[in-house]
Formats: sequence, structure tokens, C-alpha cells
Amino acid sequence: MKNQPIIGIFLAIYVFTGFMCFAQEAADTLELPASALENESCLHCHGEAKFDMYNSDSSMVLKKHMYKVIDRDLFYNPLSVHREFSCTDCHSSEFKEFPHPLEGRFETPLVCMDCHEGDDAFAKFNFEGIAQEYGASIHHTELGDEFNCWSCHNPHGYILHARSDDNIKDIITYNNNVCLSCHSNVDKFELLTDRELIDIIGNHQWLPNQKVHFENVRCIDCHSKTSDTTLVAHQIQPKDKAVKNCVECHSQNSHLMASLYKFQTIEARSKIGFMNAVILNESYVIGANRNVFLNRASIIIFILTLLGIAVHAIIRMVIK
Ligand code: HEC
Ligand code: HEC
Ligand code: HEC
Ligand code: HEC
Ligand code: HEC
Ligand code: HEC
Ligand code: HEC
Repeated sequence: MKNQPIIGIFLAIYVFTGFMCFAQEAADTLELPASALENESCLHCHGEAKFDMYNSDSSMVLKKHMYKVIDRDLFYNPLSVHREFSCTDCHSSEFKEFPHPLEGRFETPLVCMDCHEGDDAFAKFNFEGIAQEYGASIHHTELGDEFNCWSCHNPHGYILHARSDDNIKDIITYNNNVCLSCHSNVDKFELLTDRELIDIIGNHQWLPNQKVHFENVRCIDCHSKTSDTTLVAHQIQPKDKAVKNCVECHSQNSHLMASLYKFQTIEARSKIGFMNAVILNESYVIGANRNVFLNRASIIIFILTLLGIAVHAIIRMVIK
């Protein structure tokens, strides 16, 4: 058996990579930040579906349902931007008592700008520009401080999506769920306004193949005013300013290049120069790009035709 050493080597590589994958997975799940231990003093109630309510006078214990559950896996997700935080970095230390006293509840949690304003480490995000856009958005002008950055950015597991190249579909789903988590949730919506829950499907009946559109564009691609200074446009406009004209997207100079595909546009421009087709080719938008397959097919047909003519001419010359 001459092959034995080779098989041995392959087997060793197989076992080794298997082990490395296992070790990596274990490290990903086990590596919790330093604050995790302290946080358990909150999560033994808030991380479970049920909790024990204890009365020290009578030593009685009652089982209760927990309605304000924090998802540990999401909070400590390796990509979650604030996973290192203690609960009490944002929440009043009064929450260490139970029942929670009233005072702590009226303390407003810190917002993004309290920590991120003017910090060079985060300059690329342009927090100041975002805050300005948000200040002019319909949610701020209509709803005031009850609505804030946390209304859209989950304080217990915000994962940055926009700055990645690979999966546009994931970005779209994540983004649209941010809006729908409130716009299709009566309880959340009605806490903020006297208006009835807006019928999202009914209000977009004018859009053909609504499902396809909601899977291929973000709400903000139609509802936000784009700008040169922020990657994710934060100025949600009143409904009469939303994009309704099909040609704004279904054209060579698609509006989507300045919104949904902005990150890719910037990356591509720095690498290969600006080209609509290169960026849009992974997701074909009718009218916005030429079909690469059709392009290639037409070149092949053209060459075949030339070949045909040449062969035909040669045969005729030979026969003559
Ligand atoms: C013994 C269980 C228990 C522990 C421990 C606990 N909580 Fe709570 N918490 C509750 C329950 C039950 C509620 C919902 C009822 C209420 O608002 O009092 C709640 C509500 C809250 C609320 C919502 C308050 C509001 O007004 O809507 C916050 C915020 C909160 N807890 C944070 C914390 C933090 C931070 C810790 C740890 C420092 C913590 N809790 C520890 C049981 C607990
Ligand atoms: C980065 C800041 C931040 C951290 C860290 C944080 N919270 Fe919160 N938490 C908030 C904000 C802001 C809200 C209010 C959200 C809103 O108004 O929608 C909130 C709301 C809550 C609520 C009420 C949810 C509800 O449905 O009413 C609970 C309970 C809570 N936090 C518990 C915790 C626990 C437990 C931890 C630690 C594991 C924690 N929080 C860590 C900022 C934070
Ligand atoms: C209490 C202070 C505090 C608040 C409030 C806060 N952040 Fe942060 N944020 C931080 C710190 C500190 C880091 C760095 C964490 C690290 O490196 O582990 C961070 C990291 C981030 C990052 C990742 C940056 C990178 O380079 O990867 C983003 C994005 C971010 N925060 C967005 C927000 C947004 C959006 C809000 C409001 C909805 C917010 N933050 C509120 C303190 C805060
Ligand atoms: C109406 C919902 C909404 C509100 C309100 C909101 N954001 Fe966002 N924000 C988003 C969405 C959606 C994204 C894109 C998420 C993704 O794809 O990563 C985002 C992305 C961001 C990013 C990352 C941008 C980048 O360049 O990668 C920052 C920073 C940010 N928001 C800060 C803020 C601040 C600061 C506020 C408050 C002044 C705020 N946001 C309020 C919805 C909102
Ligand atoms: C936490 C809840 C919440 C979230 C999250 C949210 N909205 Fe809203 N939105 C509201 C409420 C409440 C109103 C009604 C405001 C009013 O009273 O007119 C509203 C109004 C609107 C309007 C209607 C403006 C008009 O002219 O009537 C648009 C458009 C809109 N939101 C788009 C979005 C988009 C896009 C997102 C996601 C990026 C989003 N919203 C996220 C609560 C939310
Ligand atoms: C293709 C563009 C487009 C997309 C994608 C889109 N919208 Fe709209 N939306 C509009 C237009 C245009 C209107 C105004 C419709 C009218 O005037 O009849 C509107 C209306 C609305 C309204 C206001 C209804 C009212 O009566 O106040 C809300 C809220 C809204 N959209 C939310 C969303 C949310 C949430 C998403 C993502 C799930 C979304 N939209 C996706 C274009 C869009
Ligand atoms: C915000 C950008 C945007 C706007 C505005 C828009 N579309 Fe689209 N549309 C898309 C994207 C992205 C797709 C998915 C890629 C594709 O199939 O072209 C799509 C898909 C389609 C499809 C193919 C659906 C299928 O089943 O494959 C049709 C038809 C269409 N749009 C027609 C329209 C019409 C008509 C309008 C105006 C009333 C319109 N679109 C407005 C971006 C847009």
C-alpha cells in the first residue's frame, strides 16, 4: 500500500482542523466579558422565563413569569458592540434592589451622544452628523424625547451590519426588522402616539410585488434623505417625501447606489473605479444594470457567427 502515508497525512489534517473548529466554537461561546459575573445578579431574573420572588419576613417564595427578558446570547454575542458593559453602566444602581424603587425608573439612561460625541475613535461613523439628521427626522419632530436612538438600536445587543461587503440580504432583513419591530407591534407603537397602528401592507399597495421589494430594499432606502456625510441615512421624512417613482431605482443611475449600495460603492471606487454593473451584479435590479450573462452570451454568439462565416468561406474556396 504505497498510499498509506498520504492517507495518514490527510487523516491528520482532518482531525486537526476538526479539533481547531471545535476549540474555536468553544472559545466563542465560553469567552464572556469581565462584567458577566456581576450581570448575573440581574440576569438570574431577567435572563429567565420565570423567577423566584422572595419575602425575607415570611421566608416565602413565589414563582412568577418574567415579562422583561434580556437575551444573554444576544447581549454577549461576539459582534454585539456593547457586550463588555455592566447592566448598571446604563441603568441606575437602584435597580439592584427589588422591588425596583420608583426613583431609578425616572432616571433616563445615557444616549449614544453622551459617550460617543467628539470621540476620535469613532470618527468614521460621524455620530454628530447622524444626530443632526435624526434631529430633523419625523420621529423626533413628532414624538420628542420619548423616541430616541435606543428606539431603533437594541440596547441589549446592537450588531453593526452596514459595514460589511458580503450579505446584502442580511443587512436588509436586519434593517427592516428594526422598523417593523415597532411598526407592526401595537403595544410599542401606541405607547408613543395617539395614532392607530399604521397599516404597512395597505399603505404600500401601489408597489407591485411588495414581498420582493421588502426583501430587496430597506425601508430607509425610500423613506430617508440620503447625504454625503453619513453611511446610513437617519433623516426619516414625512410620507409625502418618500420615493414612489419606480425609475429612481429602476434606472442606470439608480438611487440605490447612494443608499443601499453606498458601502460597496465606496469600497469599489477605491479598488477598481466606479462601475455600476460591478456593484449591482450580485443583485440584479431591472433597468439598473446590464445582465452579465446576456452580455457574455451575445459575445459568444457574435464569435460563433464570425467563425461560421469563416468556415463557410474556407469550404467554398476549397470546393471551388
Ligand atoms: C428578583 C428578580 C429581579 C432582579 C434580581 C432584577 N430585576 Fe429588574 N425587574 C424585575 C421585574 C419583575 C420587573 C418588572 C416589574 C417591575 O417593573 O417592577 C423588572 C423591571 C426592570 C426594569 C424596567 C423598569 C420599568 O420601569 O419599566 C429594568 C430597567 C430592570 N428591571 C433592570 C434591572 C437591573 C439593571 C437589575 C440588576 C441590577 C435588575 N433589574 C434585577 C425583576 C428583577
Ligand atoms: C448600553 C446601555 C444598556 C445596557 C448595557 C443595558 N441596558 Fe437595559 N436598557 C437600556 C435602555 C436604553 C433601555 C430602554 C429601552 C427602551 O426604551 O426601549 C433598557 C431597558 C431595559 C429593561 C426594560 C425592558 C422593557 O421591555 O421594558 C430591562 C429589564 C433592562 N433594560 C435590563 C437590563 C439588564 C439586565 C442589563 C444587563 C444584562 C441591561 N439592561 C444592560 C440600556 C442598557
Ligand atoms: C455608556 C456609554 C455608551 C453609550 C450610551 C453608547 N455607547 Fe457605543 N460604545 C461605547 C464604548 C465604550 C464602545 C467601545 C466598546 C468596545 O470597544 O468594547 C462602544 C462601541 C460602539 C460601536 C462599535 C464601534 C467600533 O468601532 O466597532 C458602535 C457602532 C456604537 N458603540 C454605537 C452606539 C450607538 C448607536 C449608541 C446609541 C444607540 C451607543 N453606541 C451608545 C460606549 C457607549
Ligand atoms: C428610526 C430608527 C433609527 C434611529 C432613531 C436611530 N438609528 Fe442609527 N441606525 C438605524 C439603522 C437601521 C442602522 C443601520 C444598521 C446596520 O445596517 O448596521 C443604523 C446605523 C447607525 C450607526 C452605524 C452607521 C455606520 O456608519 O456604520 C450609527 C453610528 C448610528 N446608527 C447612530 C445613531 C444615533 C447616534 C442615533 C440617535 C441620534 C440613531 N442612530 C438613531 C436606525 C436608527
Ligand atoms: C419604536 C417605534 C418606532 C420605530 C422603531 C420606527 N418607527 Fe416610524 N413611526 C413610529 C410612530 C409612533 C409614528 C407616528 C408618528 C406620528 O405620530 O405621526 C411613526 C411614523 C413613521 C412614518 C410616517 C410619517 C408620516 O408622514 O405619517 C414613517 C414613514 C416611518 N415612521 C418610518 C419608519 C422607518 C423607515 C423606520 C425604521 C428605520 C421606523 N419608522 C422605525 C414609531 C416607530
Ligand atoms: C419602494 C419605496 C418604499 C419602501 C421600500 C417602503 N416604503 Fe413606506 N412608503 C412609501 C411611500 C411612497 C409612501 C406614501 C404612500 C402614499 O402616499 O400613499 C409610504 C408610506 C409609509 C408610511 C406612512 C403611512 C401613513 O399613512 O402615515 C409608513 C409608516 C411607512 N411607509 C413605513 C415603511 C416601512 C416600515 C417600510 C419597510 C418595511 C417601508 N415603509 C418601505 C415608499 C416605500
Ligand atoms: C427603492 C428602490 C425601488 C423602487 C422605488 C421600486 N423598485 Fe422595483 N425593485 C427594486 C429592487 C431592488 C428589486 C429586486 C431586484 C429585481 O428583481 O429587479 C425590484 C423588483 C421589481 C420587480 C420584479 C419583481 C419580481 O417578481 O422579480 C418589478 C416588476 C418591479 N420592481 C417594479 C417596480 C415598479 C412598477 C415600481 C414603482 C411603482 C418599483 N418597482 C419601484 C427596487 C425598487
